[in-house]
Amino acid sequence: SVVAKLNLDRIIGKHQDFPKPGILFRDINPVFRNPDALKFIASEFSRKFSKTRYDATAGIESRGFVVATAVGMKAGKGVIMIRKVGKLPGPTIKKSYDIEYGNATMELQTDAVKKGQRVLIVDDLIATGGTAVAAAQLVEELGGKVAGFGFVIELAGLKGADRLRQMGYRVESLVVYD
Ligand code: PRP
Ligand code: MG
Repeated sequence: SVVAKLNLDRIIGKHQDFPKPGILFRDINPVFRNPDALKFIASEFSRKFSKTRYDATAGIESRGFVVATAVGMKAGKGVIMIRKVGKLPGPTIKKSYDIEYGNATMELQTDAVKKGQRVLIVDDLIATGGTAVAAAQLVEELGGKVAGFGFVIELAGLKGADRLRQMGYRVESLVVYD
């Protein structure tokens, strides 16, 4: 099926001084509200990862869930939810990571990833990469393999995607900002 090329940069919202002065906030919400943009995201990732073998798509709470659903449905894969701590029942593993002020913790159900399973991890945006690294560690701790990372937006100046590539991961971003 052919999906028309679409300029995501024009759809991504830009908010100066949010959440605090000096920050230009890139807002994915207008992209998620646009059905053509959602289809485009799924088709771009399916194209970029067409030669990559994977069994499931993992989305990182919360904005990553929308990306994971679009990508997973198009690829015919299920969606694994990597969640902020305290929301998942049953046996889980946790991973803490640094954020701008303090730290945060992500959690994954131990039966969500089987040994040897290949997982494509997606999120709306990569900045410092702390969230993505924690997600990868969770998948790997359960014996899974990270098949790659897909981000709609990469904030290149914060070097998170570089960090992942230096760790040996395949990283694909649809829109890159300095
Ligand atoms: C944002 C964004 C990524 C993460 C990127 O999520 O959606 O998940 O930060 O930052 P990093 O690369 O520096 O780790 P946030 O934690 O704000 O939560 P949300 O997705 O629930 O809005
Ligand atoms: Mg997020």
